[in-house]
Amino acid sequence: MFRTNRIKRLVRSPAVFLMALLFFLPGLNLYATEGVPGMHELDRRVADLMARMTLTEKIGQMAQVNAFGGGIPVAAQEALTAGRIGSILNEVNVNIVNEMQRIAVEESRLGIPLMIGRDVIHGFKTVLPIPLGQAATWNPELVRKGARMSALEAASTGINWTFAPMIDVTRDPRWGRIAESLGEDPYLHSVLGAAMVKGFQGDDLAEHGTIAACAKHFAGYGASESGRDYNTTNIPENELRNVYLPPFHAAVEAGVATIMASFSDLDGIPASGNRFLMRQVLREEWGFEGFVVSDWASIEQLTVHGLTANDKEAAFEALGAGVNMEMASTTYTNHLEELLQEGRISIQQIDEMVEGILRVKFRMGLFENPYTDPSSYPAISNPEHLATARLAALQSLVLLENRNKVLPINKETLGSIAIIGPLADDGYEQMGTWVFDGDAGISQTPLSAIREFVGTDVRVNHVRAMETSRSRSVDGFEKARAAAESSDAVIVFLGEEAILSGEAHSRADIDLPGNQAELLRVLHETGKPLIAVILAGRPLTLENVLDHTDAILYAWHPGTMGGPAITDVLFGVESPAGKLPVTFPKMVGQVPIYYAHKHTGKPATADTFRSIDDIPVRMPQSSSGFVSSHLDAGYSPRYPFGYGLSYTEFSYSDIRLSGNRVALGEPVTVKAVVTNTGDVEADEIVQLYIRDLVGNVTRPVKELKGFQRLRLQPGDSQTVEFVLEPDDLAFYGRDMKLINEPGDFHVWIGGSSEAELRAEFTVTSD
Ligand code: NOJ
Repeated sequence: MFRTNRIKRLVRSPAVFLMALLFFLPGLNLYATEGVPGMHELDRRVADLMARMTLTEKIGQMAQVNAFGGGIPVAAQEALTAGRIGSILNEVNVNIVNEMQRIAVEESRLGIPLMIGRDVIHGFKTVLPIPLGQAATWNPELVRKGARMSALEAASTGINWTFAPMIDVTRDPRWGRIAESLGEDPYLHSVLGAAMVKGFQGDDLAEHGTIAACAKHFAGYGASESGRDYNTTNIPENELRNVYLPPFHAAVEAGVATIMASFSDLDGIPASGNRFLMRQVLREEWGFEGFVVSDWASIEQLTVHGLTANDKEAAFEALGAGVNMEMASTTYTNHLEELLQEGRISIQQIDEMVEGILRVKFRMGLFENPYTDPSSYPAISNPEHLATARLAALQSLVLLENRNKVLPINKETLGSIAIIGPLADDGYEQMGTWVFDGDAGISQTPLSAIREFVGTDVRVNHVRAMETSRSRSVDGFEKARAAAESSDAVIVFLGEEAILSGEAHSRADIDLPGNQAELLRVLHETGKPLIAVILAGRPLTLENVLDHTDAILYAWHPGTMGGPAITDVLFGVESPAGKLPVTFPKMVGQVPIYYAHKHTGKPATADTFRSIDDIPVRMPQSSSGFVSSHLDAGYSPRYPFGYGLSYTEFSYSDIRLSGNRVALGEPVTVKAVVTNTGDVEADEIVQLYIRDLVGNVTRPVKELKGFQRLRLQPGDSQTVEFVLEPDDLAFYGRDMKLINEPGDFHVWIGGSSEAELRAEFTVTSD
């Protein structure tokens, strides 16, 4: 149906007919002519088009406009026809998208198709775990597959560009956007971010079902002070290069088509006007060939920041810094021509920005295939997509506590079970933040999945107990207590509802909100085995509930298939194997707390640390015991990065190196034996960390440099092998250049950042 109409329309359109004729007649093809010798075909097409564009059309390509609320008003039709819009965001009605494309392609003078952007962050209709949860899988292939699934569902509605992956390293669980990130580590971020880029874009952006990715937010947004969203950042250049930039470099290397400038400022210069970031690092150092889009009105906000006095100056700064396309605000549309006439900017500057955009549009194959035929895509939420979402949810689950091996629950010996809490049966909340298109109607909740799993043999006593995760009322608590008392075991689903994390939803207190701790205390009084499943968009501080639970399963916001995935783990169909992509503090005052910290001149150890309770009254001030720690919280987190329990145990032994002395520039191979010493078949995420003992700048006490997910039968062993390349040992030194230095290194292989199995090697300069 769609195809026939489209062909009829195409044939009716003189502009398209002419374009097609030109395209297929050798020698006459405007977009693929023989041109300057040696010029790349893509560049030739861009140059041909550029040569025919007016200034208005060029500035038009630099404008990204929000959709019009379900139609195409006359003014928008005129703007599209005049070539004054290069991209639309937030339109998901395929008919409207196709009509917009038709106007752009058939009715505008040059027929340049539109990029249609949308925040497809962790799924489209079928929702995957939040990105922080996906990071807990440590499974790049699964992450890639999830992004591919999201791309297919989104592309079927005409979306051809997602504003993902978000690869802001962050060490602050107060920041609501930690939910969207891949955690605290540059290496894990780099590997998984690149996997997402590959998933969205495939190997060839022109292929059916691929969409352009957008690595965001460039750069340093994850360091927003005090975790307050949009706040200023304070990142020394050395830390920026060693911690915050590597994931973006990895995304560029993976071929990401676009980059989004951050709302935040860096060293006093907001990212959207930051030449150092976008000219020097992104283009000159990394050779990025895609284009940069601003964040929502972030060019206009240069004035709000106080960098510029008005919109015109904001446009001047953003263009100079290298922002190709302006999202939502209109400083480019309104002021670039004037700035050009005044001679303050050059046409070459505008051309460079427009060329970047056109290059991506050509790469996407949009000129050949501007329209979307939904019937050419797999069905939304088809069984394969649900299976991917389920596996991602399953692998994202992290078991934090399991006293007396209360988990897994044995269904055979269970007569009844209490299912309690505001998040046990809420298909919407389990999807998490950034689910504009997520379909809560297809969510499978823990309650429904548990009911289905236990069947009629086990009585399920369900009490919601609290209306939301924030509720303060205790009205439902007695009913919950009664349900617990009359059950053999209690599973309570707590955490944060979706809106408590994500953009602009930061928290200063990261305990369980509302009266949830009190609910746990009440249930604990019953003496029944008590399992807490926490659904949340960030690490929470759990100190006030640890003594009131027997097991804690951390489920993040697990998405559409959270219910069956959680059920599989609770009842032992599968062992949990997720590992934390971010450190969990004991108290919020420890933040930022992360495993890859610096050693400092006064590191704390069990021997040197003195707690608030150990200090004698009126003890004279002396430097003994003066170590880097908090008197009340100590120096270690509640749960370290890379941590997660299993239903089995793994042991690590026989660490071996290809040599203890390695010449500078040569790789070193590290092997160890992993053994499943328990009695359950399970996955394990094997992690490799290094420490560079002495550096031109101080180096972290541990740095993740490799990981593998493997599966072992009880009693089985496997030798894992990692190759550390010179790049893995390199870091940015004092002069901000990437360097490899001779010197001593430690290397660990184990199941968390607290791995103990260690070897040592020396990189020699000869
Ligand atoms: C603002 C957010 O910071 C960004 O991540 C998002 O892609 C845009 N809005 C568009 O919705």
